[in-house]
Amino acid sequence: MTIDLAALPEDFLWGTATSAYQIEGAVAEDGRSPSIWDTFSHTPGKIDNGDHGDIACDHYHRWREDIGLMRQLGTNAYRLSIAWPRVVPGGDGPVNAKGLDFYDQLIDALLEAGITPSVTLYHWDLPQVLQDRGGWPARDTAHHFASYASVVAERLGDRVQHWTTLNEPLCSAWIGHLEGRMAPGFADLEVAVRASYHLLLGHGLAVQAIRAAAPGAQVGIVNNLSSVEAATDRPEDVAAARRLDGHTNRWWLDPVHGRGFPADMREVYGVELPELPGDLETMAQPLDWLGLNYYFPSTVADDPSGPAPRVRTVRRLGVPRTGMDWEVDASGIERLLLRLTDDYGARKLYVTENGSAYPDVVRPDGTVDDPERTRYLEQHLAACAAAAGKGVPLAGYFAWSLLDNFEWAYGYDKRFGLVHVDYETQRRTVKGTGHRYADIIRAHGERRRSAA
Ligand code: FCB
Repeated sequence: MTIDLAALPEDFLWGTATSAYQIEGAVAEDGRSPSIWDTFSHTPGKIDNGDHGDIACDHYHRWREDIGLMRQLGTNAYRLSIAWPRVVPGGDGPVNAKGLDFYDQLIDALLEAGITPSVTLYHWDLPQVLQDRGGWPARDTAHHFASYASVVAERLGDRVQHWTTLNEPLCSAWIGHLEGRMAPGFADLEVAVRASYHLLLGHGLAVQAIRAAAPGAQVGIVNNLSSVEAATDRPEDVAAARRLDGHTNRWWLDPVHGRGFPADMREVYGVELPELPGDLETMAQPLDWLGLNYYFPSTVADDPSGPAPRVRTVRRLGVPRTGMDWEVDASGIERLLLRLTDDYGARKLYVTENGSAYPDVVRPDGTVDDPERTRYLEQHLAACAAAAGKGVPLAGYFAWSLLDNFEWAYGYDKRFGLVHVDYETQRRTVKGTGHRYADIIRAHGERRRSAA
């Protein structure tokens, strides 16, 4: 399949992405305190197969080898997250030097390998001590987040330019506090709305803190947005699609763009926001870029008796699905990139995650052949290039994920890596898709060289 590489800028970032709890392991080493994900994954019944992140990909000890894999793929960027409980184990207060040292050496080694680090401060691993003091539904957590952000930016800001405050606050708020399928595992609308509010407040405060500590920082936020369609043109279903759009897109985008919280959704939730004067201005700090995580589109119908936002997902027949049972449809990524550009005036965009899980096996000859994932990658890159061709300021793409890893409530069964991990031996094997990605990156580089 052809990807219009000419549409992508010369200095395009070709990356992979991971997050701390999903790969690091070493949960009790060098002063790290437990996070809400340690608690949740050790709560019986929460994670498939009783899996947890205690060891994960053992990246905490194998990071040199993992940087070697990035080089092998030819990537020039890497999106990682910092574990708050490693750096500030008490949630606020004293800094754990060893925790910061780990990331310091990782950043140096990435730069030495010619790989631009893109650092996410919060990929869901809130220190458990802060959960015990109220977690994101409590306002103080937003302030603690900003203090932690400033500690990290002060230490790494001389070398790290790309900063993300939050990864997918939607999942923290809605899946963690409304649906209960992720840590901390609540199912309460009022609590979830409060969490969403303080996440966005924490984002705004952290943007200010990062900029104060590292003046050249390029700061953004990463959202997993939904490309939503109504299942039919019945007015009820069209309204349901509008509600899902509010729940997954506008609730997260509007406040950071200075538009406040969408009035229709405030009505749908019917929950009073814990608003104080000045908060909306804090949430709306100008951003240098926006990150989009995209996996699948959503087709929905009205579900009048369901919980907010009262929609149900409709399965489209004949659409291929990944091992997550997620639809494969790359048109959604193009639509969302165009929308961020046209409706929200984005001046710089990154696809900060995109990828697919399939049940891979290492063949007797030691290779992993994953043609479905390769097709998924090609289709989505082609859609990104098409969007760029239509004027979307797309500056990079980060494949989810570098490695197979701890896929949250699904444990280790769902494999998203470009590199296969054998969890018994920690042996890494580049999959067919990893090789294909390397070819695409090389081809883009060659185009650039021959144009010069
Ligand atoms: C995203 C998460 C990431 C990973 C992928 C599959 O929602 O940000 O950590 O689990 O989904």
